[in-house]
Amino acid sequence: MSIVWKDNLATGINEIDNQHKELFDRINKLFQACHSGQGTKEVINVMSFLENYVIEHFSCEEKLQLKSNFPNYAEHKKQHEEFKAEITNLKQELSAGADSTSFVIKINNLIVNWLLNHIKKSDKELSQHIKTKV
Ligand SMILES: [Fe+2]
Repeated sequence: MSIVWKDNLATGINEIDNQHKELFDRINKLFQACHSGQGTKEVINVMSFLENYVIEHFSCEEKLQLKSNFPNYAEHKKQHEEFKAEITNLKQELSAGADSTSFVIKINNLIVNWLLNHIKKSDKELSQHIKTKV
């Protein structure tokens, strides 16, 4: 199992693309760890990564949106908040002793949905907007 970065996911904003690629790398590391029987340890690492990642990455995007008067700021921010809430839920499940295999499946579903619905659509829309401002 792995997720592959493709150029059609690029927003064209280097800072954002690099952060998205970092997310791919981190999730792929989790898949590799699961393959080699290290999944339980790695899910804990990946959750602390995701907790920081969502705060830093989303605030980076939101700053760009405010700076460029992005018209869909409120809706975009709402999607970020929903994703943050999903991460908080997953963290609670993990603390409550969730099985690591089902946990990895949940993270995978969450990230794949995020790629299809957010990075491919909403972040692209943001990059289109920023390009018209430069
Ligand atoms: Fe975003």
